[in-house]
Amino acid sequence: MKKRILLIVGGGIAAYKCLELVRRARDRGFDVRCVMTTAATEFVTPLSFASLSGEPVHTDLFSLDEETEIGHIRLSREADLVVVAPATADLLAKLAGGLADSLAGAVLLATDKPVLVAPAMNPRMWSHPATRRNAAQLRADGIAFVGPNSGEMAEQNEAGEGRMAEPHEILARIEEMLGVATKPLAGHRMIVTSGPTHEPIDPVRYLANRSSGKQGHAIAAAAAAGADVTLVSGPVSIPDPAGVSTVHVETARQMLAAVEEALPAEIAICAAAVADWRPTSEGGQKMKKDGGAAPGLELVENPDILRTLAQHHTLRPRLVVGFAAETEKVVAHAQAKLARKGCDLIVANDVSHESGVMGGDRNTIHLVGSESVESWDEMDKHEVAERLVARLGNMLGGKGSGTTAPGSTAPGAS
Ligand code: C5P
Repeated sequence: MKKRILLIVGGGIAAYKCLELVRRARDRGFDVRCVMTTAATEFVTPLSFASLSGEPVHTDLFSLDEETEIGHIRLSREADLVVVAPATADLLAKLAGGLADSLAGAVLLATDKPVLVAPAMNPRMWSHPATRRNAAQLRADGIAFVGPNSGEMAEQNEAGEGRMAEPHEILARIEEMLGVATKPLAGHRMIVTSGPTHEPIDPVRYLANRSSGKQGHAIAAAAAAGADVTLVSGPVSIPDPAGVSTVHVETARQMLAAVEEALPAEIAICAAAVADWRPTSEGGQKMKKDGGAAPGLELVENPDILRTLAQHHTLRPRLVVGFAAETEKVVAHAQAKLARKGCDLIVANDVSHESGVMGGDRNTIHLVGSESVESWDEMDKHEVAERLVARLGNMLGGKGSGTTAPGSTAPGAS
């Protein structure tokens, strides 16, 4: 029997993100029904939610038709979980005060099911004593919270705590509350490398690349739902994922040392954009312009972390996965790389400037195994991470038993 979510969409700019939440929840096999407050319909049309949920959307305007068709009591009871996103300051206040002067309020008061709220508001509104009071009351009443997160707000020059949790975070909480969270790598140890490396030229300059670490960090976060994960991260500006042991490094050599330190592990995913070369010698002093010719930069090759792991004599992880960032002939180059490095799988992506992958939030990947290539649709980097983790779980389960060859099953991939 499919689990049913009742999503109450509040009136905030984050309402548009709930379209993604509905799409992903349905992809994961949930039925979703939506109630929108009147304010929410100013941000996103009910038709958008109706199209994605495949169900009529109930708006805040009490209508005889809607009440006759499905009363608010039934609406609230037929769900397994009620989710409020974005939960505005006003909705939190209504819920804390037990106001039922709107469909959303009435549904929330009438439900006998668990309620999850994803607050989203201006940081000052979130930190206002009235909102703090309401949030504390709701927690005491057993209402679950996800977020808000810190970061940039929709308003210019506003930052702080108040951003709605991302759809994947809300979905993870939903699955947890409904007891259907999947932990494909439960009990396994995993090492992930992520981000760029910085290779010093002198005390103030370095060689680097545009890797943001978003994909590697998302993989570590997704795996942490079950696995014991060590993330070895180059210099990035994104936060350490929760539930992961993160080691911060700068250079390729430090990254290799940290990875070797983290062995043994069953799985290694090398998502870092490791600099292929480093300056032969790091100058002890800052290089100076002396009016003469520009100084030559002599380079030496860095250790290859992926190959070291894949060809390790004693501690080779059972699954070694590499990434291939290519700007042309993506699959062909990835196949050559798979053979050259000796790994089990290459996740290949197009990082040409037009693709927007480097630093962006979305990715289009090809899973290249020794005998197969599978191309996935463009999706959010967190979704890539979740599907990849599910795939690795399958491969580990299948390894040895001979039932699952790399690239032969596709949980949700297309
Ligand atoms: O050889 P290339 O840099 O194209 O290979 C990319 C893959 O190899 C990525 O998985 C990357 O993390 C890994 N790599 C590595 N150490 C290096 C260079 C690349 O682990 N020195």
